[in-house]
Amino acid sequence: MTDAALRSAAPGSPAGDDRLSALARFGSRLISAEQHESGAYPASPTFSAYAGYSWFRDGAFIADGMSSYGGVASADRFFDWCAGVLLARRAAIERIVARAEAGDPVPDAEMLATRFTLTGEEGADEWWDFQLDGYGTWLWAVAEHSARHGLDAGRWREAIELTVDYLLSSWQRPCFDWWEENAEQVHVSTLGCISAGLRAVAELGVLDAVRRADAETAVAAIQSLIEEAGTVDGHLAKWLGSTEVDASLLALISPLGVVPAESELGRRTVDVIDRDLNVGSGVHRYLADSYYGGGQWPLLSCFLGLARLAQGDRAAAQAALLWAASTAGDDGSLPEQVAEHLLAPDRVAEWVERWGEVADPLLWSHGMFLRLAVDLGVVAPMAAADRTAGER
Ligand code: BGC
Repeated sequence: MTDAALRSAAPGSPAGDDRLSALARFGSRLISAEQHESGAYPASPTFSAYAGYSWFRDGAFIADGMSSYGGVASADRFFDWCAGVLLARRAAIERIVARAEAGDPVPDAEMLATRFTLTGEEGADEWWDFQLDGYGTWLWAVAEHSARHGLDAGRWREAIELTVDYLLSSWQRPCFDWWEENAEQVHVSTLGCISAGLRAVAELGVLDAVRRADAETAVAAIQSLIEEAGTVDGHLAKWLGSTEVDASLLALISPLGVVPAESELGRRTVDVIDRDLNVGSGVHRYLADSYYGGGQWPLLSCFLGLARLAQGDRAAAQAALLWAASTAGDDGSLPEQVAEHLLAPDRVAEWVERWGEVADPLLWSHGMFLRLAVDLGVVAPMAAADRTAGER
């Protein structure tokens, strides 16, 4: 799929929608094909630093994309993998909770990892571990999935309970953010993911009364903290006390719904991110980004599209989907980022030398594309017959 072909095919026109729906279907097939028999989604099957690992963050959004497209069994299997990872760490989680309750929290190195091997181990490679957002996001995604398809979430109850206990004990802690940076800060997007997850499982009805009440109390406390310390000039801030924005904040507007899309805070946040980080519908992570030169990320364009769609701006959402599609390679694969409008062009070489070319495909990019394409009606969710026939 070439840029020129895509750009000449407007969404809303039959030709444009055909191309976009073909790309969405390609993404679903790729995600299905790459899903490990354990249920894990590899972040990128080919990229040196990610191959062999699955992240709760990436995976939760990939599962959400698959679920919204009707890929019920694929999402089920990913959540089974998450549950397996958590249940295998019951003793560690109980210890983390007990130490937090005793006022003697464990050090960061003893908190749960951020990513696991496809078979659910920590793996031998060093990583920027201790990130809380993915544990909130999986709760949100499993609850969304269960509600969307009328499933009994009892299948994941124990793992959900463990995650709730873990987050209730530790949500205030500083940790690495979505981009695995700034471990000394409390990140507003991380808080939002935790709040969305706790709220979603509280509403789902899988929690006992005590956990449910505790989760609701934490959600209210997180919302107040965000409003009091996580905003600046009327918009969400990158971390508590920061004056910057970060494109990960878009997720709090949609799909996580932590900040109402039409509220002043929601509007101003999306507008400022649009102003500071969006160039022609290609979205940067944050202004000081230098990872692979700080290019534009198709998955973030899809988050912008979801936020704009939630505000009723269909044209902006379509433009975002179209831009994301324009980053596809000839084989249809979507990368992590493209080297367009680089913020730090002199920093590309050091990353290429360290880890090789940019991750491509990145399954999270395909998952976000799928979700936005479904929400825009560019691709229809699979019929039940196709789901059982291998979800292709
Ligand atoms: C990104 C993370 C992501 C990981 C795997 C990192 O470069 O910063 O957000 O989870 O890649 O895709």
